[in-house]
Amino acid sequence: MKKVIEVKNLTKEYKKLKAVDDLSFDVYKGEILGLLGPNGSGKSTTINCLLSLLNFSNGSIKIFDCDMKPDAYDLKRKIGVVFQDVSVFNELNVIDNIDYFCGLYIKDKITRKKYVDEAIELVGLTDFKKFYPKQLSGGLLRRLNIACGIAHKPEIIFLDEPTVAVDPQSRNNILDGIKKLRDNGATILYTTHYMEEVEILCDRVIILDKGKILASGTTDELKKMASTSEKVSVEVNDLDNKKIDKIKTLKNVDEVTYKDGILLINYKKGKNNLVDIIEFLKQENINYNKIYSERPTLNDVFLELTGKELRD
Ligand SMILES: Nc1ncnc2c1ncn2[C@@H]1O[C@H](COP(=O)(O)OP(=O)(O)OP(=O)(O)O)[C@@H](O)[C@H]1O
Ligand SMILES: [Mg+2]
Repeated sequence: MKKVIEVKNLTKEYKKLKAVDDLSFDVYKGEILGLLGPNGSGKSTTINCLLSLLNFSNGSIKIFDCDMKPDAYDLKRKIGVVFQDVSVFNELNVIDNIDYFCGLYIKDKITRKKYVDEAIELVGLTDFKKFYPKQLSGGLLRRLNIACGIAHKPEIIFLDEPTVAVDPQSRNNILDGIKKLRDNGATILYTTHYMEEVEILCDRVIILDKGKILASGTTDELKKMASTSEKVSVEVNDLDNKKIDKIKTLKNVDEVTYKDGILLINYKKGKNNLVDIIEFLKQENINYNKIYSERPTLNDVFLELTGKELRD
């Protein structure tokens, strides 16, 4: 796989605070790499360093094997960026906003019109072409922000939390659009604090906290770091201690709790845990209302690594 971005030992300090602390990572051609971390973990600072918008105290950044510097205009032309805060012109309607940003890169009018139309189609703003930003809902405004950043078909795209505070419909639209950009060949760096999004979207994930990389890998690899491999919950009334003790001795069981009519069983490993517990409940004539199994989430991994939740 071809390396498109190479970050080595990147450190950015604000007085005594290390906003980014010795980050090293690579981004490969055609992948979506997720930077997942809570508020203040250093996601935007990393992106701003990659764009050479910020000076940094230590480290190096290479894009397409060239040093990224403030005057690396040839590299900057290959990058599209969607900032965390919406930045569009209130005086221009949807089509003119996208045309303005695309026009910074694409001079030919016919090509530009094609690119602008394709960006509008990609983010689903076809019915809103003549709308001004103030007439758009929060979700539609975010979609416009994205279209402005990607219309010129950049090879690399940085997206900084593009789905914050949007409705589910816009969120799905945005995530589908980003997958299409990847499928069309773009390399994407995507920041978010929503673990569900990286699961749906990202080929690889870096978990950040306090400016440091805590872990990285595919979502499956990261989930294997969780000490629990499966949690089964059972809604059941009047379970006595004898039965609970018996459950504790079943295969693969790690921990058992019973509170407010919910029996929670944590398993260390194993494949047929749900089948086994259903069988056990039947044998013991224990009636239950509902039973369900959950695999560990990235939040569980984050919790184990840091002792806190991804989201406040
Ligand atoms: N200009 C600045 N001056 C001082 N500290 C800053 C500045 N910009 C960012 N920071 C601090 O650096 C740390 C990282 O901030 P950053 O904005 O990169 O985090 P983030 O992961 O993007 O957070 P969010 O999810 O809230 O966008 C935070 O502690 C933040 O307060
Ligand atoms: Mg940020």
